[in-house]
Formats: sequence, C-alpha cells, structure tokens
Amino acid sequence: MEKVCAILLAAGDGKRMKSQKPKVLCEVLFQPMITWVTNALAEAGIENCCAVLGSGVEQVRAVLPEHYATALQQERKGTGHAVMMAADYIKSGGFTDVVVLCGDAPLIKPQDIKAVYGQHKADGNAATVFVAHLSDPAGYGRIVRDKDGGVSAIVEQADADPKTQKINEINAGVYWFDAKFLLEALDGISTSNAKGEYYLTDTVGAAVKGDRRVGAYTTHFTAAMGANDRLGLSALNKMAQYYVLDRLLSDGVDIPFRDQVVVGPNVKISADTTILPGCILKGDTTIGEGCEIGPNTQLTNTVVGNGCKVVASFVDSSQLEDGVSIGPMANIRPGCVIGQKVKIGDFVEVKSSVIGAKSAISHLSYVGDSDVGEGCNLGCGIVTVNYDGKNKHRTVIGSESFIGCNTNLIAPITLGDRVYCAAGTTLTEDVPSEALVIGRCRQTVKENKNKDGLRFKKSNR
Ligand code: UD1
Ligand code: CA
Repeated sequence: MEKVCAILLAAGDGKRMKSQKPKVLCEVLFQPMITWVTNALAEAGIENCCAVLGSGVEQVRAVLPEHYATALQQERKGTGHAVMMAADYIKSGGFTDVVVLCGDAPLIKPQDIKAVYGQHKADGNAATVFVAHLSDPAGYGRIVRDKDGGVSAIVEQADADPKTQKINEINAGVYWFDAKFLLEALDGISTSNAKGEYYLTDTVGAAVKGDRRVGAYTTHFTAAMGANDRLGLSALNKMAQYYVLDRLLSDGVDIPFRDQVVVGPNVKISADTTILPGCILKGDTTIGEGCEIGPNTQLTNTVVGNGCKVVASFVDSSQLEDGVSIGPMANIRPGCVIGQKVKIGDFVEVKSSVIGAKSAISHLSYVGDSDVGEGCNLGCGIVTVNYDGKNKHRTVIGSESFIGCNTNLIAPITLGDRVYCAAGTTLTEDVPSEALVIGRCRQTVKENKNKDGLRFKKSNR
C-alpha cells in the first residue's frame, strides 16, 4: 500500500439508543462498535487514522488506539462535513488514498478493506464505494450506475424519486478515495438537498463532472449494517455471533447448541473443546484443547489450559493450568493461578491466590490472598480470614498440608509443608512444617444433665 490513511466517522450521539454514552461506544459482543472497526483497520494494515468525534470525545478517545489522531466536529452537518474536519490531517500527512468508514457499522471485514484498495488502484478510480444488495433498501443511499458499470450518483432516501427508491443496490457507507480528488471534491459540495446537510456521497457528482471514474465493490450486506437503536444493536449482536461461532466451529471447537452460547470476538478456543449451553466467554479469553466448558459458565479474560472442566461457574481474569476442574457453582475472582489438576468444588470462592498443582478445595470455602502449595487438601468450610476491617493480609500454606474442615486461618499467617490441622481450628499463629495443630475447645459431655429435655419434650422420646 502507498501512503494511505483512514477517516473514521464517529460524531454521532446515543440519543436513539437512549444512552448516556456516545453511540459508537454501544457494544456488540461486549466490545464497543468502534473497536470492531479499529481492529479491522489494524488487521488490514492501516495504521494512520483520524477519528472524527462529536459528543463524549474523551470517552471515545479512551477506547481508540493511542496513535490515532482525532478531529472535532462540533456541529453535525453531515458526512461530507465530518470528513472536512479531517481535511488538515489528510493534507499534512501527504496521503495518496483515504478509506472512509463509519464507527457505528462494526462488521466491516479487513479482507474487504484490502481487496477494495487493490481494485481502486488498479482501476485508477477517484473513489470506490462499497455497495450491497438489500431486499429492503429503505434508509440507505441508492447506487445509480452508468452504462459502463461505474457509479454515476448516490441518491439518499430523502432525495430519491419513486423510481430511484426501487433500486436495491445500496451504499454501504465505506469508500476508498484518491486523497487529492477527495479534498477538491469536498470543497465543491453544498447543502442543497432534502436534509440540508453536506453529503459525502455528493463527491460522486464531482467525479462525473471531472470525467473521473467511481467504482463499486459488492460486499455482504452485513458490512452496511449499523445500529441506530437498541433493536439494531441486537440484530448486530446476532449477526456478529454467527461470524464468531462459524469461525470456531470450522476450527474444530464443539458447540452442539450454537444458539445458546455467547462468545466475544477475541476469544480463542482450540479444537476438541466442548462449549455447552449457557456459556458466556468474553474478553481476551483463551481455552486449550479437550476442555469441557459449561453448562452455565462465564469466563472473562481467562487463560484455560488443556483438558480442563468448568461447570456452572464464574472465572474472571485468572489462569487455569492443564487438567483443572472447577465447579459446579464456584467463583474464581481476578488474580488467581490455579495449578495443574487442581480441583475446586461447589460453593468455593477463590481470589488473588495461587493454588499449587494437585491441591483440592472441594466444598464451601473462601480462599483469598493466599499461596497454597502443591498437593494440599483444604477441607469443607475453610476460610482464610484475610481482612481485618482495614487491610488485606496473605495466607501461606506449604505443600502437602491437610487443613481440616471449618478451619479459620487468621491472616497474615504462614503454615509450613505437611502441616496437619485438626477440624474446627482457628489458626492465629504460624505453624512449622510437619506439625499437627489443634486449636479448639475440648468437648465436654455432662451426663444426665438434660433430663428435663431442653430440646425435646419427654413425651416425644
Ligand atoms: C450514510 C450515507 C448513505 C449510506 C449510509 C450507510 C451519506 C450522505 N449517506 O447515510 O448513502 O447508505 O450512510 O450506512 O453519507 N456522522 C458524523 N457527522 C455527521 C454525520 C454523520 O460523524 O455530521 C457519522 C455518523 O455518526 C455515522 C456515519 O457518519 O457513523 C454515517 O452517518 P449517518 O447519519 O448514519 O448516515 P446515513 O444517513 O445513514
Ligand atoms: Ca447510518
């Protein structure tokens, strides 16, 4: 590619979304719409980009790649006007060609951006428009072709006569422009149309006048799909979901009931892993081979090794090494490294902890801010008491230790290797390796002291 740049139109607000945030931050598969577009640009190898922003500038800037330039469009006077806001950026960068895209049409494919550039250059076009065929073209700009197959005009819905309205070839809202042509053509467009806006699409007229060619590239209709309201957003989610799941299925991931799982666009899953119904997998989650995930599981920004099983549980920002078994009903909170073949069972919460290989925490426990060695068994109901009301403290348990049921470990505390702790102990002090520790009241039995039956009436005996 020669020196090219992208102009990303993103000045829309969230009014029809009934949202406080700018429209382009509304999410498709848990990712802002505009991030889909910036990811596609990166994949297409286009680094230089200026985003045209209107409302919520700071919020949008926060999700843009750091090296992006931005231009402010204070008043929304149309797509042509929006591109004008980036004219200085195009001029000063000395770019030869410019791709213009919309921040609210997330399903544009990187391959298409590249392919259209090739066609645009080969044909020596002033502009090349992404077009699509829709059975219901209402709302879109209609493509009027000349007899050589070039584009002679793009007519907006509001300006179209009944005959033009019947055209079902539409402008998808993405274009490659010859940079010099674009800058000159923008100078020449006016607001004399039904909406009183500067239409970017009117640059086609300048090309026709100047005897330059405008080409068309037919894409899948999803490239044109944008969202103006929540209904549209929901339709985009559905379509995006098909894309993601199709890719995973063709990579050999087993998803027997594909309508019942939701997988984000950046999730990576290896072959022979099964994703059962009720799973939500999001963020930068990576799952290895031969795992069984679900039913009813949410994984967020989590790395899962090979041969793991996660049933009806939540795992957030953590790492599960090979052969780990989680759940049902476990909550693995951020900052955990769960070692090989560890078993974490029902109603166990683990937070900011490292659990050594082959250890087990099978039932009803809280393990927070802890380092647990290898081969430990933490009995039912153990609690690391990590919070004293002001500060959090760590618990350290050496390898091959056995912590009996209903033990409280009052942190900060360190237990050595092969410690044996009796059930019901409240540990307040460190324990050396190989020690047996019991910290509870001896049971007292007082015979014949319940003659009157404090609990049961005599008649019930
Ligand atoms: C535009 C095209 C139409 C095409 C459709 C595809 C024009 C005149 N029409 O229509 O032919 O079929 O897209 O979706 O270009 N924006 C700004 N500032 C503005 C106006 C718009 O940043 O002043 C941004 C919007 O936030 C949006 C994009 O430009 O991301 C497109 O604007 P929109 O108003 O949705 O254009 P359409 O009327 O849909
Ligand atoms: Ca639109």
